[in-house]
Amino acid sequence: MAFRQKHLLGIEPLHPDEITTVLDVAERYVDLNRQANKHSDALKGLTQINMFFENSTRTQSSFELAGKRLGADVMNMAMQASSIKKGETLIDTALTLNAMHPDLLVVRHPHSGAVDLLAQKVNCAVLNAGDGKHEHPTQALLDALTIRRAKGRLHRLNIAICGDIAHSRVARSNLMLLGKMENRVRLVGPPTLVPQQFKEFGCEIYDDMAEGLKDVDVVMMLRLQKERMDGGFIPSEREYFYRYGLDADKLAHAKPDAIVMHPGPMNRGVEIDGTIADDINRSVIQEQVEMGVAVRMAAMDLLARNLKSAREADAGVMV
Ligand code: NCD
Repeated sequence: MAFRQKHLLGIEPLHPDEITTVLDVAERYVDLNRQANKHSDALKGLTQINMFFENSTRTQSSFELAGKRLGADVMNMAMQASSIKKGETLIDTALTLNAMHPDLLVVRHPHSGAVDLLAQKVNCAVLNAGDGKHEHPTQALLDALTIRRAKGRLHRLNIAICGDIAHSRVARSNLMLLGKMENRVRLVGPPTLVPQQFKEFGCEIYDDMAEGLKDVDVVMMLRLQKERMDGGFIPSEREYFYRYGLDADKLAHAKPDAIVMHPGPMNRGVEIDGTIADDINRSVIQEQVEMGVAVRMAAMDLLARNLKSAREADAGVMV
């Protein structure tokens, strides 16, 4: 099985074969999740702790459900962003939790790099559920699975990621994953929200939706991350919707069978027209949520296997 990671901190360190392995394992969990009995023993006896220092609906609930379906003991820690300070507090929290012998730690934190730091302090597998503007690896993996199932492949596709790229960990993880799998990624949005340095990732940049969406296979919309903006990045939401909000007219520039994606939470009438979001012939937004549970099951299953092997190897050395 080609998955050698101890933690899932980002897409950046993953080899394309490891991405394919996660998606293949996730496919099996998609089937399981559609059965009446959704249980497996992959994480039986293991303890999973979810620490969300930032709000979450989909990600937290799907990690919880994923752990429970795989038989882990799952604990959700109630974390309020306001009560947390970076540095010692985070490390102290990590050390406290570590003393309780968790096997899997799922962490979301408002600071980029905080989850990597935490992973260095604990001896269990750490999964990044989103760190600041940095990475959100399980989101990119669930998006990849959704695309692969809808398009029948995950290479040589034209994919437009649109909107607030600058503040989006979803965009960063996605463009790295899609690039590794040899797709062509375009970033579309106002120059204030699409920094030119993203060209380093090998993507093309557009500030016009009609041009940016021309003949693409996938249109991925992003929320305006107002909580990460310090200052005015857009003139008004009304004008933003007029120029960059996905509606039927703008979508008409994409391929006739192009799919529409959004990681949620979505702001109807800001980055996307409600009728497009609800169009079952184009929108795969609900499938993304379904794939989210399966991908998180796969990621935790694979990390738990590696953890078990590492512990067995350590025990062997001690004998
Ligand atoms: C995203 C996030 O939190 O980064 N949401 C998610 O995980 N589904 C995107 C967002 O908040 O806009």
